[in-house]
Amino acid sequence: MQTVNRLIALREAVESLRADGEIALVPTMGALHEGHLTLVREARKRAAHTVVSIFVNPTQFGPNEDLDAYPRRMAEDSRLLEAEGVDLLWAPTVDEVYPAGFASSIRVEGVSEGLCGASRPGHFDGVATVVCKLFNQVLPDLALFGEKDWQQLAVIRRMARDLDLTRPLVSDIIGVPTVREADGLAMSSRNRYLSPEQRHQAASLPAAMKRAIAALERGDRASDALGELEQSLFASGFASVDYSALVDAASLAPLSALGNSPARLLVAARIGGTRLIDNMAVGPA
Ligand code: PAF
Repeated sequence: MQTVNRLIALREAVESLRADGEIALVPTMGALHEGHLTLVREARKRAAHTVVSIFVNPTQFGPNEDLDAYPRRMAEDSRLLEAEGVDLLWAPTVDEVYPAGFASSIRVEGVSEGLCGASRPGHFDGVATVVCKLFNQVLPDLALFGEKDWQQLAVIRRMARDLDLTRPLVSDIIGVPTVREADGLAMSSRNRYLSPEQRHQAASLPAAMKRAIAALERGDRASDALGELEQSLFASGFASVDYSALVDAASLAPLSALGNSPARLLVAARIGGTRLIDNMAVGPA
């Protein structure tokens, strides 16, 4: 596996890979876990070459968020990626991505607003901007993202469609199903902040979501099913619930009950100081 930190070296490396096959990009912020490695394995199945980026993107962190505390494990991550057969690791410095005088930002209206966008102002502007830059830097034929961050995926697809991106085409932005621990908790770099007791309590999130989905599929109104879900999270030790919502799977428009089109249940809740997000399909696929 080749590792590059400079754009000029990236462009050379990508050009030589492209000469003999398609390139898949897996954008990450590092601190890799099984969820990321699943994206890498899927990328390797779908393209001749896999490029992984590791960049802890400062513009998607709010002033009170954990940018400095965000885990950075480049040596360990690099070993994991090498063992997975990744061709190229793109690990730019902050200056390489945001050189002095950098003054542009991409805002995706609609899908960025509400849900995580409401409690993390500016977060999705940072995500859309850096992902657009990563796409332009690597020019991948396809790109893979975890479905765990459902709103992020919707924002990236909208951005690619609105800006007429061709590498990758919006149809080649692939969502990969969430990888879960044995007790159902969605894998996340943030799970490592949980104490053993909090980790145990955290498993009540997917369990409560499954009960809410069963209620919605029986015909309960969203307000009832979500009210019960939130109560059950507080009873299990969650400190707060940022949101729980039943939304249209594509537009993220809120729904008051399950209809005939694919829907999604999305939740963000805090256990101690750790914010966990999860989402699951509801009703017809
Ligand atoms: O999901 C992430 O890890 C990040 O938001 C991403 C897509 C790599 C952009 O920084």
